[in-house]
Amino acid sequence: MANSKYEYVRNFEQPDHLLPQSWIVVRIDGRGFHKFSDKYGFEKPNDRRALDLMNAAAVDVMKDLPDLNIAYGVSDEYSFVFHPSCQLFERRSSKLVSTIVSSFTASYIFHWPEFFPDKPLEASHLPTFDGRAVLYPTASILRDYLSWRQVDCHINNLYNTTFWNLVLKGGMSNTEAEKALQGTVSSDKNEILFSRFGINYNNEPEIFKKGSVVYRQYELEEPQSSTATETPDASRGKEELSRTQQEKLRKLRCKAKVVVEHVDIIKDDFWARRPWILSNRPGRLPAA
Ligand code: GTP
Ligand code: MG
Repeated sequence: MANSKYEYVRNFEQPDHLLPQSWIVVRIDGRGFHKFSDKYGFEKPNDRRALDLMNAAAVDVMKDLPDLNIAYGVSDEYSFVFHPSCQLFERRSSKLVSTIVSSFTASYIFHWPEFFPDKPLEASHLPTFDGRAVLYPTASILRDYLSWRQVDCHINNLYNTTFWNLVLKGGMSNTEAEKALQGTVSSDKNEILFSRFGINYNNEPEIFKKGSVVYRQYELEEPQSSTATETPDASRGKEELSRTQQEKLRKLRCKAKVVVEHVDIIKDDFWARRPWILSNRPGRLPAA
C-alpha cells in the first residue's frame, strides 16, 4: 500500500480483539420496539408473525455465519453464540457485532412483507437493532446466560399474558391491571388466568413460553454419563485449528439444516442430546 503523509491516522484505531478461549455472545435488541410494535399493530402481548419474522432473520444469520453454534431469541432480542475456538474476523468485537446486526436487520426488512403483507414498512418507522458482545469463560456460565434469558422469557410472558387479559378481556385500565398484579407470584398469575379467563397457562404456545432456539441439526445422540457442560471446555481451542481444518469444519456445518425449536434449554437434556453445540464438533447428518 502506498505510504502517504496521512498514513499516521491509522494509529488512532483501537484494537478490539475479544479474549481468546471464551464463549462470545452477541446479543442484539430491537431499538424502540415498544413504539415500533404499536405502529405496526403487533398483537398483545405476543404477535406470532413478529416472532416468526425474528426467527426467519436469525436463521439467515446462522446460515450466513457458519461459525455460529446456537442462537436464542425472545421478544425483540436475539443472542448469537460463537465457540471459544472461533477465529472469525480475528475475534474483533466491532466486526462481529456490526456484521450480525446488519445481517439480521437486512434480513428482517427483506422478510417483512412475507409476515406483514398488509402493513408495508414506512421510511419514518424502520426497524433497527443495537448489539453488544459479551464473553463467558466456561460452557457452564454460557448455559447460565442462556438459562437467564429463557427464565426471563417465561417470567415476562406470564406477566404480560395476565396483564393483557386483565386489560383486553377484563376491562381494566393499564394502571388497574398493573396494580392488580403488584406483589403477585407465579401461582397467583396462573390462578387469575384460570379462574377469570379459563386459561391454563401450560397450554399457551411453546414459542411464547420458551422463546426460540436456533441451531444446526444433526442426529440426536443418546445422553452420555458425563454432564453436558464438562467435556466441551476441554476442546475450547487451546490447540489452534489450522486454516484447512477450520475450512473443513465450516463446510460440514453448512451442510446441516438450521432448525428453530421452542424447547427447554435450562435442563441438561437439550445439551446432552445435542453435544455438537458445545463441543463444536459437527455431528452425524441425518440420512437423506
Ligand atoms: P430499547 O430496546 O431500549 O430501544 O426499547 P424497546 O422499546 O425496544 O423495549 P425493550 O427492548 O425493553 O422491550 C421490547 C418491547 O417490544 C416490549 O416491551 C414490547 O413493547 C415490544 N414487543 C416485543 N415483542 C412484541 C410482541 O410480540 N407484541 C407486542 N405487542 N409488542 C412486542
Ligand atoms: Mg428493544
